[in-house]
Amino acid sequence: MAAQAGFGNARSTTDLISPKLPALHFYQLALLAPKPPDGSFDAAAAARGQVVFNGAAKCSVCHVPPTFTEPGWNMHAADELKIDSFQADRAPDKKYRTTPLRGLWAHAKGGFYHDGRYATLSDVASHYDADMALGLTGAQKSDLVEYLKSL
Ligand code: HEC
Repeated sequence: MAAQAGFGNARSTTDLISPKLPALHFYQLALLAPKPPDGSFDAAAAARGQVVFNGAAKCSVCHVPPTFTEPGWNMHAADELKIDSFQADRAPDKKYRTTPLRGLWAHAKGGFYHDGRYATLSDVASHYDADMALGLTGAQKSDLVEYLKSL
């Protein structure tokens, strides 16, 4: 409604907001993601998982390190993700945003993806493997999960 009514483009004659945005943006980018607690992931498996993430599993095509989202335009259509467009269709561009992956361990409750449809990181890895026909082995998938927990 607000978008349809053009409120996103509304400006008052004295613009009190725009001058504050660059500093706010800088501050947001400067915030560090919380570090995973010691012993919460297997470091050797995570190192192998990093290779899978950037190689065989092609995750880094969209989740580009070090932000793990995409520089510039980070939106994707539902069919690129092999999921339904129900929630995307509610947005003006009908797309999903590439989620930054740092600090994933800190919000593991409630599931992953915009609606929490994948209960665990292992479910996320299986979704990509099956629906994008990646052909990963079980070991590659579990290494990938350890890497995700390490971010
Ligand atoms: C085509 C681009 C693309 C590729 C390739 C991709 N992702 Fe994603 N990823 C996304 C988008 C977009 C979302 C957000 C989906 C949503 O919210 O419904 C997402 C969400 C996620 C999430 C959920 C994060 C959260 O906080 O809920 C995880 C974890 C994830 N991706 C891991 C991976 C892994 C691991 C791979 C490789 C196997 C991968 N992604 C490949 C675009 C991609």
